Amino acid sequence: MPSSKTVKDYIRTIVDFPHEGILFRDVTTLFADPRGFRLAIDQLLHPYVGERIDKVVGLEARGFILGGAIAHQLSVGFVPIRKKGKLPGAVISEEYTLEYGEAVVELHDDAISAGENILLVDDLLATGGTAEAGIKLIERLGGRIIGCAFVVDLPELGGRKRIEAMGMDVHTLCEFEGL
Ligand code: PRP
Ligand code: MG
Repeated sequence: MPSSKTVKDYIRTIVDFPHEGILFRDVTTLFADPRGFRLAIDQLLHPYVGERIDKVVGLEARGFILGGAIAHQLSVGFVPIRKKGKLPGAVISEEYTLEYGEAVVELHDDAISAGENILLVDDLLATGGTAEAGIKLIERLGGRIIGCAFVVDLPELGGRKRIEAMGMDVHTLCEFEGL
């Protein structure tokens, strides 16, 4: 009999990580399960079937795992957005706000050509700060973002509204309440 488990059912919650009082939504258990991982990749891609996508862009770090698999499935290239100082070539940078302090993400300045259709991928949408920085980087190179796809949405943190307010199509597979 086929399993009726949903993507959400494969995600483990770790209490008090990385700080006391935080419920960490751990997608490693989803990635480790062959059916769960395929289900997640298929569902992330589903709204974009029939659309022209030229490149998949993944946000460090778990967006690399999803984005690589999606790019392979679409037979298109994969481009990483990395934390500051990790990419070897010439980069463009965007600062964003974290719970404590600021962070910077970077994109190779020749990784996307103007007019290319881009699918942006990450594991989780919380405040939307990381995704917003990624969107700005892609748009600075003239990329056209077809969609922003995430496995998990934490609606209490408002990321979806923030990214939709930028005019983006946001696609998520499940929601968790409680932070
Ligand atoms: C987590 C998660 C998203 C981001 C979401 O990554 O994987 O990328 O936070 O948060 P936001 O919507 O509030 O920006 P994290 O920064 O912990 O880094 P990692 O993926 O490299 O572990
Ligand atoms: Mg991340």
